[in-house]
Amino acid sequence: MIDRLAHPDALVVDATIRSRRAIRRFTHDPVPRRVVEEILDVARSAPSNSNTQPWRVYVLTGERKAAMSEALRRAHADDGHPPLRHMPDPLPHDMRSRQEAFGMRYYGALGVPKSDLQERARVTARNFDFFGAPVGLIFAIDSRLTKYSWLDYGMFIQTVMLAARAVGLATCAQVSFARFQDVIADQLDLPSGHEVVCGMSLGFSDEASPVNRIDMTREPVRNFSTFLGFD
Ligand SMILES: Cc1cc2nc3c(=O)[nH]c(=O)nc-3n(C[C@H](O)[C@H](O)[C@H](O)COP(=O)(O)O)c2cc1C
Repeated sequence: MIDRLAHPDALVVDATIRSRRAIRRFTHDPVPRRVVEEILDVARSAPSNSNTQPWRVYVLTGERKAAMSEALRRAHADDGHPPLRHMPDPLPHDMRSRQEAFGMRYYGALGVPKSDLQERARVTARNFDFFGAPVGLIFAIDSRLTKYSWLDYGMFIQTVMLAARAVGLATCAQVSFARFQDVIADQLDLPSGHEVVCGMSLGFSDEASPVNRIDMTREPVRNFSTFLGFD
């Protein structure tokens, strides 16, 4: 019989997982390169199909991050890129209602009405400033790889977020970067045949900001699990 209280590691791991949040406003406090290296050093233990380790990570700060942000802000303002279709439209019904609930909370916390498309575009643009975080990460993958390797990548990215959380740092994974593949490839000199999986902001959470206090709910286990063969 497993008694969870007899496993102090479980308390720490669970608390780390449960307390991670997508953070969208950061303080100006810097994060040293050594700390980011240590986080990535933990994350490289993430599992992958046949140990293929499909991750390729770019870590930006200072002038290089500013140049990336500037290029992305310009591309976003130009509107010359088609919208990123990162999910099917329409979404399956249950997911659509969760997505709408997210939008209500997110834009609600920022005081932006759903109908104000201009202001919503400005909110989206904050992604490209890495929400003010001192460190921005871009995750790239060899485009020849398939969804199973992207599955590996998801595990890696969650491991990065948890390793960061464990040392008091905050993150936000950001698929919005993938819309500007060409801009990012140019900024990073991405090897040909590589594509952007997503970006990530990394830094210290601005705890006073209401946008960092939106608590996204989750479905209870019974809503997404089917147990078979148990008593
Ligand atoms: C792969 C991935 C991509 C995401 N992309 C964005 C993004 O581009 N911009 C953003 O503000 N949040 C983004 N998020 C954050 C999600 O909106 C957030 O994880 C979700 O609403 C659940 O909230 P929580 O992380 O605070 O629990 C992304 C999350 C994941 C996992």
